[in-house]
Amino acid sequence: MSAKPLSTPSLEGLARRRLPRPIYDFISGGAGEEFALRANAQAFASLRWVPRSFQDCVRRSPRTEVLGQAYDLPIGVSAMGLGELASPGTDEALMRMAFERRLPYVLSTAASTRIEQCVQWCGEFAWFQIYPVEDFSHTRRLIDRARACGVRHLVLTVDAAHPGRRLRDRRNRFGQWPWHHPRALAAYVTRPSWCWRMWRAGLPRMVNLEPPPGETAAWSSPQSLIASMTRAELSWTTLEKVREAWPHRLVVKGVLDPDIAPALRAAGVDAIQLSNHGARQLGSVVSPLDVIGEFRARLGPDYPLFLDSGVRSGEDAAKALSLGADLVFAGRSWLYATSAMRPREGAKLAADLLAAELDSVMAQTGCADLAGLRKVRVMRVATAAAAIPVDRDAA
Ligand SMILES: Cc1cc2nc3c(=O)[nH]c(=O)nc-3n(C[C@H](O)[C@H](O)[C@H](O)COP(=O)(O)O)c2cc1C
Repeated sequence: MSAKPLSTPSLEGLARRRLPRPIYDFISGGAGEEFALRANAQAFASLRWVPRSFQDCVRRSPRTEVLGQAYDLPIGVSAMGLGELASPGTDEALMRMAFERRLPYVLSTAASTRIEQCVQWCGEFAWFQIYPVEDFSHTRRLIDRARACGVRHLVLTVDAAHPGRRLRDRRNRFGQWPWHHPRALAAYVTRPSWCWRMWRAGLPRMVNLEPPPGETAAWSSPQSLIASMTRAELSWTTLEKVREAWPHRLVVKGVLDPDIAPALRAAGVDAIQLSNHGARQLGSVVSPLDVIGEFRARLGPDYPLFLDSGVRSGEDAAKALSLGADLVFAGRSWLYATSAMRPREGAKLAADLLAAELDSVMAQTGCADLAGLRKVRVMRVATAAAAIPVDRDAA
């Protein structure tokens, strides 16, 4: 029986021990040679605080208000399709946790929980992420559903129009039945608890993409959805169409080029989420943390900027907030938590740890609130990439 994890990064080692290798690889893997996956970790690891002395920070709060919504914690759950693969019950656990802890939860187009259900569990903390598909009327229908059930934040992901080359998935033949591949089969057989729970719950489906009764969808499997996304137009015209269809807050996720930031703002985008999709799309892409300063310089101090990719702890989140993010999103860390232990327990523990790690940074650097954190200097120091553990075992 392993000791209770003491830090968010230590959840990954536990998850790795509990998940069949192809599932762990699907969640944790990156594109190509995974240079960007390591660089995301390095971007955070190479930053050091310069604490401010003589600050009154006995009473501290990480509360914030962004785009008209108050949050108790500025660290959200990023959109993740097929998150139920981590452990059945993951979606519900994370949604209920987001509601209780008052932090944003982004439901993926490819999630295994219906938008309407998500709103029931998450209330005003439910956001919806959209991947445009080939026929815009399908995209439009999803947008209308989100609007009808009360979602107020739509996230348009723009960095996944083409599938990333995820070599681990190819090696593991992820998405194919394992019995044709002895190596993959062995990986599942050695994790009987996961297999048993998945067998009882049934394999996760992309339920929001299933057609209404009587209609047939153009995509019925992850592969056909990806094919449909690949054929979808993703241009400024698409953005215009989405903007026109969505009357509430619109976030564009997956932007890394500061040159287009002013045009996005001019196109009516309410916030930009800097992201490299957790390094899952391109092997050597730049890390959002390395360009956020340029975005701030172009957009000024008040335009909402969000950041994800590589956030593994509350201290990482604090670094992004300090460099100018208004909200930070984590992806894999939440799934490691729900696969490392029972999903409800894992989701709660991850939220507790992230909040405690963020609070510790605020206390040590002299910040009573997030505005104070923006004033703290962070310095980049040279680190050897090899010294950064991507996969850390339990404390
Ligand atoms: C298993 C998994 C599935 C994902 N699915 C989606 C998705 O459906 N839509 C999306 O916009 N991003 C998706 N992402 C990317 C995340 O939203 C986020 O950008 C990324 O995980 C952040 O990096 P991190 O995992 O290092 O925190 C997914 C990420 C993972 C790990």
